[in-house]
Amino acid sequence: MKIFLDSADLDEIAALCDTGFIDGVTTNPSLIAKSGHNILDRIAEICAIVDGPVSAEVTATDYDTMLAEGRKLAAIGPNVAVKVPLTKAGLQACQTLSHAGTKVNVTLCFTAGQALLAAKAGAAFISPFVGRLDDIGRDGMGLIEEICTLYANYDYPTEVLVASVRSSQTVVDAALMGADVVTLPPKILTALYHHPLTDSGLDAFSQDWAKTGQSIL
Ligand code: G3P
Repeated sequence: MKIFLDSADLDEIAALCDTGFIDGVTTNPSLIAKSGHNILDRIAEICAIVDGPVSAEVTATDYDTMLAEGRKLAAIGPNVAVKVPLTKAGLQACQTLSHAGTKVNVTLCFTAGQALLAAKAGAAFISPFVGRLDDIGRDGMGLIEEICTLYANYDYPTEVLVASVRSSQTVVDAALMGADVVTLPPKILTALYHHPLTDSGLDAFSQDWAKTGQSIL
């Protein structure tokens, strides 16, 4: 399963890309606003340090402007995936951009029916927001299971990109369901490798090792 970082913070991205297990980056208008940077500059900066797909979201809501924005974002680099919202205009823009060879990430997906239409529109990625569904008492991961089954039934190549992730357990659940990608805020990525028993076990090993007076080097 691929791991993307859900961030527009360049320092954060650079620090975690160093680990070697970041396969791409996703951004959205809120994350760009939080960064305080111009979207075109920031996406170009991210593309310069990330080889995998970098999702950059259009902000228009009508088809023509969405398309123009999508083309401008796609021109930033070959690894830009244009993110469009799951609306009628967004799906139409997805179809046009995908036919022209641009990777499209259809975002703000909350039902399997929406995901079906995104696949038919040629989306490279579908982004169901599991945390936001859980927030309103719905079953976010149940949606992932449905979409994975639905796409497998028809061999749709659209990748299921699990977004709005609130816990490291969601990452494991997504992998067990066969989702293609998870996009994680940095704190969830950290939570994925951190475990208190690892820390306390390491402390104990270090203390015992110090008593031996040995050195491997
Ligand atoms: O990038 C989209 C998504 O991951 C947003 O997550 O936490 O704002 O629901 P969140």
